Amino acid sequence: MQEKIVILDFGSQTTQLIGRRIRELDIYCEIYPYNKFPEDDGSIRGVILSGSPFSVYDDKAFKIDLEPLSSRYPILGICYGAQYMAYAAGGKVEPAGSREYGRAHLAGIREGNPLFEGIAEGSQIWMSHGDTITAIPDGFEKIASTESVDIAAYHVKGKKIWGVQFHPEVYHTTDGTQLLKNFAVGICGCKQDWSPASFIETTVAQLQQQLGNDKVVLGLSGGVDSSVAAVLLNRAIGSNLTCIFVDHGMLRKDEFKNVLHDYECLGLNVIGVDASRKFFSELAGVTEPERKRKIIGKGFIDVFDEEAHKIKDVKWLAQGTIYPDCIESLSITGTVIKSHHNVGGLPERMNLRLCEPLRLLFKDEVRRVGRELGMPEHLITRHPFPGPGLAVRILGEITPEKVHVLQEADDIFISGLREWGLYDKVWQAGVILLPVQSVGVMGDERTYERAVALRAVTSTDAMTADWARLPYDFLAKVSNDIINKVKGVNRVTYDISSKPPSTIEWE
Ligand code: XMP
Repeated sequence: MQEKIVILDFGSQTTQLIGRRIRELDIYCEIYPYNKFPEDDGSIRGVILSGSPFSVYDDKAFKIDLEPLSSRYPILGICYGAQYMAYAAGGKVEPAGSREYGRAHLAGIREGNPLFEGIAEGSQIWMSHGDTITAIPDGFEKIASTESVDIAAYHVKGKKIWGVQFHPEVYHTTDGTQLLKNFAVGICGCKQDWSPASFIETTVAQLQQQLGNDKVVLGLSGGVDSSVAAVLLNRAIGSNLTCIFVDHGMLRKDEFKNVLHDYECLGLNVIGVDASRKFFSELAGVTEPERKRKIIGKGFIDVFDEEAHKIKDVKWLAQGTIYPDCIESLSITGTVIKSHHNVGGLPERMNLRLCEPLRLLFKDEVRRVGRELGMPEHLITRHPFPGPGLAVRILGEITPEKVHVLQEADDIFISGLREWGLYDKVWQAGVILLPVQSVGVMGDERTYERAVALRAVTSTDAMTADWARLPYDFLAKVSNDIINKVKGVNRVTYDISSKPPSTIEWE
């Protein structure tokens, strides 16, 4: 049984980060909404209560009965989690005089307290709260302060319960990982045995049990998530898995052929479907970005459905959904925020059960699992690429001729990034074909041709992004190559917008 830490999410933006930090310690953890504590099969070693956008005395504050948890598990409350435990036990939480936000330093660390093992006086921490604990209840002891916060951390005497008002999960808290390790390993006794290899072993066994001899279909996109999901399932159920890779005609240059070849080398049972004519005819004359997305999404479902029906007795649809796609983050209004899905509606329409073997992994863990499964590095480190492909990078109407121009320009840019050792330094890159023609001169001839924009960004999760500071020499070379080699393009620009307020894609 895989031991774990349970993180209860009270709606903080950094809850996922707590999960990542714990996993980085090779300790397995799961995040649950604050009021949905899971059934314990004997694997839960400790509980972390996250921060929250609410104040504990707010009418709408998320509250739970702590007794069933505190009598059974070690608990670490972070920010709101700490304030809530103190408040529920009769302590005082009040608005902080000045908002306690930003860097601070630990002082007065209680010697011998296991939560601060190996953490020195003066260690930098990150504060971010509008409230502060002004009085702790009987039985609680203060174990650290900062220059402006008296009760930065406390311990409940005789119990395995701790609270910290700062955020150990954020990068700016220098010894944050050490603190989380002190809790998870030192206090909860976790063994740090969570690894890609152990994940593969347990998941393959679970999949075999869950799927038995059932047939499964999976849509491949060329991206890392669906590819890793496919290889994992292939290891579990072999030829009972059929993968379908649809070419909508708007993939990168030679991508369909190359990726199909990679998949075949991995031993996957894969059907490649060239449906480009269907998509081009449905997209003819369409310029509105959302309509393009809808047409492609629906077309994809049609093609996939048709192919899947050719396979007899399929019972499951597998998808490469990953953890950040499915964590139910609680927004201030309590509504559920979910990421977009290209194939929303597919499971319902096909009347299949859903199998998502990566649903508990973060992106970097998916990559580690892929490596452990022996997948080639270029599949694993591949940049994200939108489901609708180049369709959202051709502004205005899509034609095969425009796709061809863009594929050539994009290929020069991406190959250049690889040659110059820059590919892995950016999160994502591509070229956008603008609906603009401009005057140029080539030899003695006046030209009136298309303009393209290069886009390259750095990011950690695509929620925010900054334009990549690519070297001028590199940009000069790429621009020169595109203008000289791609017929129909006479101008290259570089997009220097960050997200927000721009987005990564132009449509
Ligand atoms: P934006 O443009 O919103 O993109 O900053 C954020 C990330 O999402 C990708 N993206 C998509 N992926 N289907 C997808 O599968 C889509 O419709 C879609 N739109 C944007 C984008 O490439 C970036 O990685």
